[in-house]
Amino acid sequence: MGAWPLDPRGPVAAQIAFVYWILFACAVVVLAIVTGALVYSGVKFRERPGHVAKQFHGHNMLEFTWTIVPTLMVISFTVLSWQKLDYINAVDRDAGMTVKAIGQQWSWTFAYPQQDTFRLPDGSYLMAGEELNIPAGMKVKVELSAKDVIHSFWVPNLGGKKDAVPGHTTALWIQADRPGTYRGQCFEFCGDGHADMLITVVAHDQNEYAKWAKTAVDDAARLRDPKTQAGREAFLTGACAGCHTVKGTTAAAKVGPELTHVASKKDIAGVLSPVNQENLTKWVRNAPSIKPGIVMPKFEGVLTDQQINDIVQWLLTLK
Ligand code: CUA
Repeated sequence: MGAWPLDPRGPVAAQIAFVYWILFACAVVVLAIVTGALVYSGVKFRERPGHVAKQFHGHNMLEFTWTIVPTLMVISFTVLSWQKLDYINAVDRDAGMTVKAIGQQWSWTFAYPQQDTFRLPDGSYLMAGEELNIPAGMKVKVELSAKDVIHSFWVPNLGGKKDAVPGHTTALWIQADRPGTYRGQCFEFCGDGHADMLITVVAHDQNEYAKWAKTAVDDAARLRDPKTQAGREAFLTGACAGCHTVKGTTAAAKVGPELTHVASKKDIAGVLSPVNQENLTKWVRNAPSIKPGIVMPKFEGVLTDQQINDIVQWLLTLK
């Protein structure tokens, strides 16, 4: 099953599902009793030839029952919910790690803790979009904030939902019992792209989490390397970012192919091989002359030779 709260894969979702099923079972029983009584009375006491509809009023025992039973049920649900909410809202109790999730139209950015594991060579700490990576079996506190409008963080298999509000910090906690990928969705209408504001939580085996962190830190460091800054900026602020995605950067368009690992590919668009400086330069200068009819325009004359060279140098680091 996909993203679905009744398929709990962590303690918070399990508690919510537990309350849900109790409420659901009680609701089914009440529905059956009320409908049953209605049908039974309608048939048994109805008016028919030679038979006057029975009129009665104020049956004390019945009135007492249908007042006291629902009252007890509502009180029980309240106590049960309070008890579960106490557990769900205890975000700090035994939390193994705190991650910040920042919502912005229409994606989430995750800032990892200021610990050596997440430290980049320039002294900053790992921040990444797309996926939230956590160790399985660990309680992770997620601090929520928003840069523009209200968003809402919800990964149904792992936990409840909470709003991310501009100028205010809220928090919830999630825990994945096993390694895996869990999908979520922004749950507060936040504009045109709301439906696409997805959340992916990847839970790693605890022993492999450090390995993931190392790779993520290396990738992030590469995307900030001062040596390739010129090309990166030309790419991200120019036409390239209007069509392509490079994960970890602001380039997230889906018109052209994703270039996150372009330097590790066998060929360029299936027509130029290998992926090296010479071929990438040819391609960026004039793709339509190599693959006629392609959407990618010619950049020769649009960008300077220096800019094209800078961009190619940067693309070559995207392994
Ligand atoms: Cu963000 Cu809906």
